[in-house]
Amino acid sequence: GKVAVLMGGDSAEREISLRSGAAVLAALQQAGVDAHPFDPQQRSLNELQEADFDRVFIALHGRGGEDGTVQGALEYMGMPYTGSGVLACALAMDKGRTKHIWEALDLPVAKSTVIKRGQLVDAQQLLQRLGGKVMVKPVREGSSIGMGSASSATELTEALATAHQYDHEVLVEAWLAGPEYTVGILGDETLPAIRLETSHEFYDYEAKYQSGDTQYHCPAGLSDTEERALQHLAKRAFEALGGSGWGRIDVMCDHAGHYKLLEANLVPGMTEKSLVPQAAAVYGLNFTDLVVRILELSMQ
Ligand code: DAL
Ligand code: MG
Repeated sequence: GKVAVLMGGDSAEREISLRSGAAVLAALQQAGVDAHPFDPQQRSLNELQEADFDRVFIALHGRGGEDGTVQGALEYMGMPYTGSGVLACALAMDKGRTKHIWEALDLPVAKSTVIKRGQLVDAQQLLQRLGGKVMVKPVREGSSIGMGSASSATELTEALATAHQYDHEVLVEAWLAGPEYTVGILGDETLPAIRLETSHEFYDYEAKYQSGDTQYHCPAGLSDTEERALQHLAKRAFEALGGSGWGRIDVMCDHAGHYKLLEANLVPGMTEKSLVPQAAAVYGLNFTDLVVRILELSMQ
């Protein structure tokens, strides 16, 4: 059938989505699939039916594309699509509510609190309560957009103001020493973990997409037991949100070396530097195999 690759969109991650989408489109075409690009920022989703598309590969990141919105519209149209459904996407887009669900299921997360825009905050007290150093994140963003660290009241006030430019809710999370790991999920399979090493203070936008010195270790250098525990945790975290098809769970170690779940990405990046393609390659799937597999999973 005819496949539309949804890419672009109007979220803050538009540029990354265009890169993911271009790579996915090329791979599908190479595999002989009748695939075409489709940017919902420029065209109405109704055109999917008018143009006789049979299926959609969602390569949209962030709000509008990864948050259940487009998934809901496609459900309504009866148009099959890759990846998770409305509920899982909506939950995973919200880092605060994601953590509430994981906590309720006794899955490990760092201590955190959500601050609403305009809410009065005693920055010093908040900082102390969370251990003296924190990570500040808009609850519904991706690619580290709007994120910052803080270890003084002034820095925290500034980081909150920055993050609140992106969202009305901001997650303030106890600082985690690392290392950072990420685990891709593909159908029933859990891909080998990747350990991220950045010379930046954290794995920020530049370290993700621009800097040449971010190191990706896969295999991650864990013992078999540690790797299995990490993969099992990622699988449980994905299932707790109701994820399906594919996704990626980000995890960070605290100072004692305990895994803490950070977030779920239900439309993970598919650029040439992205993580799921790297883990898939170690697993034995090249980029084309991976993309075809994700499409096949939408047919089950
Ligand atoms: N939000 C980016 C695309 C990722 O998780 O890879
Ligand atoms: Mg994310």
